[in-house]
Amino acid sequence: MSKLKDKLNNKIEAHRPRIKKLLSDHGETVVTDVTVQQIIGGMRGIKSLVTDISYLDPYEGIRYRGFTLEEVFNQLPKPPNAKMPYVEGLFYLLLTGDIPTQDEVNELIYDCVNRRQLPKYVYEVIDAFPNNSHPMVILSAAVMSMQRESIFNLKYQRGLNKLDYWESTYEDALNLISKMPVISAYIYNKLYSKRTGIYQDPTLDFGGNFAYMMGMDSPYDEVSRMYFILHADHEGGNVSAHTGHLIASSLSDVYYATSGMINGLAGPLHGLANQEVLRWIQDLRSKMGDKVPSEEIMKKFVWDTLEGGQVVPGFGHAVLRKTDPRYQIQREFCLENFPDDDLFKYVDMLYRIVPPILQEQGKAKNPWPNVDAQSGVVQWYYGVTQYDFYTVLFSIGRALGVLSNIIWDRALGFPLERPKSITTDMLEQIVGIK
Ligand SMILES: CC(C)(COP(=O)(O)OP(=O)(O)OC[C@H]1O[C@@H](n2cnc3c(N)ncnc32)[C@H](O)[C@@H]1OP(=O)(O)O)[C@@H](O)C(=O)NCCC(=O)NCCS
Repeated sequence: MSKLKDKLNNKIEAHRPRIKKLLSDHGETVVTDVTVQQIIGGMRGIKSLVTDISYLDPYEGIRYRGFTLEEVFNQLPKPPNAKMPYVEGLFYLLLTGDIPTQDEVNELIYDCVNRRQLPKYVYEVIDAFPNNSHPMVILSAAVMSMQRESIFNLKYQRGLNKLDYWESTYEDALNLISKMPVISAYIYNKLYSKRTGIYQDPTLDFGGNFAYMMGMDSPYDEVSRMYFILHADHEGGNVSAHTGHLIASSLSDVYYATSGMINGLAGPLHGLANQEVLRWIQDLRSKMGDKVPSEEIMKKFVWDTLEGGQVVPGFGHAVLRKTDPRYQIQREFCLENFPDDDLFKYVDMLYRIVPPILQEQGKAKNPWPNVDAQSGVVQWYYGVTQYDFYTVLFSIGRALGVLSNIIWDRALGFPLERPKSITTDMLEQIVGIK
């Protein structure tokens, strides 16, 4: 057993009695009341899931295992001369709750490098797609095609003790996390690049090897590390995390669950918003020629979008009630590295003018920018201008959190998820209309 798996085993043993006690001694304690608005309105704010991987405070933003993003970026070990930490270190933190030492990260990197090799048929699945397919469709299918590799599924068929579910799920999760960047880079090269095939470098970490496979020079390795870490988790209720958890709750393996979470992420109100932001800005940019618009033109563009019954992509959030710290970190990165870039000037102007417009319109509960308003411009600046690929990048990052959650779901024996639905008649009876 690897040292990480051994450590996880001890943490799981220590955690199991906490859940057991909560259920046996406090199972009937009321946590929250539920309103009609919440039932009809997408279950907003109903506390009905448990995860220790991350927590999202509406005013502070995300904490991974209790650490703010600033603390995560400062405290996790980094490659030599790098500003951004190892992605593997973040995964270690999400799994265990501990900031790893350099040696602990090295051991995990070594383990992951040995899991990167893709079965040949995965390349064939990807190659079979027409080049005008959306990359998220190809990613989802490629992940799904690997279900036959599931160790959990194999062991389950042979008869597996409940207490051991997490162990083979851990193996599946590490295999999949190590392979997703390879799948994604291969999709990128197939769809957009003239390069044939991709090359890996086993001496490089997750972010470094991803940049290498994409054919991108430094600092794209740093950009990748930052991107994957920022997108890793956003507590349990968002569409991708929740979908992954829900599917896995039926004991479907991580290949089914991750393919499903990718499908949820592909919606424009969730992960695809990063693509939508760029598509929307490029629409105005093409009308403007090479010029950056005046604030008046930009305001009209935003109002036209709203009056057309569309959302302004990259703004608003179901939980956050302030500017997303993931936005802020990327904004600071842009200000440090390319403050005079034209596309950044668009994003910067939107940062100033959109919130007052959304406030004036008076509908959005949160007028402030989210992660997706800023992530695309960073990718664009460093050469990934094919914006329909951006949600694939999001998927790689999000898999780190979703898979950490699924390992813990299995370890703590969380049951099949099965909320109760009622009819409109019943709701009307409850409120006294009928
Ligand atoms: C993220 C999002 C889906 C959250 O939805 P929500 O929790 O229902 O948000 P709210 O409660 O604030 O929505 C209230 C109203 O404001 C609207 N609204 C919210 N954000 C908006 C935005 N960015 N632009 C225009 N209208 C917006 C909603 O569409 C809703 O309108 P309706 O009453 O006509 O249905 C929403 O803010 C949105 O669509 N944002 C743009 C897409 C995006 O950036 N998604 C990525 C999120 S990380």
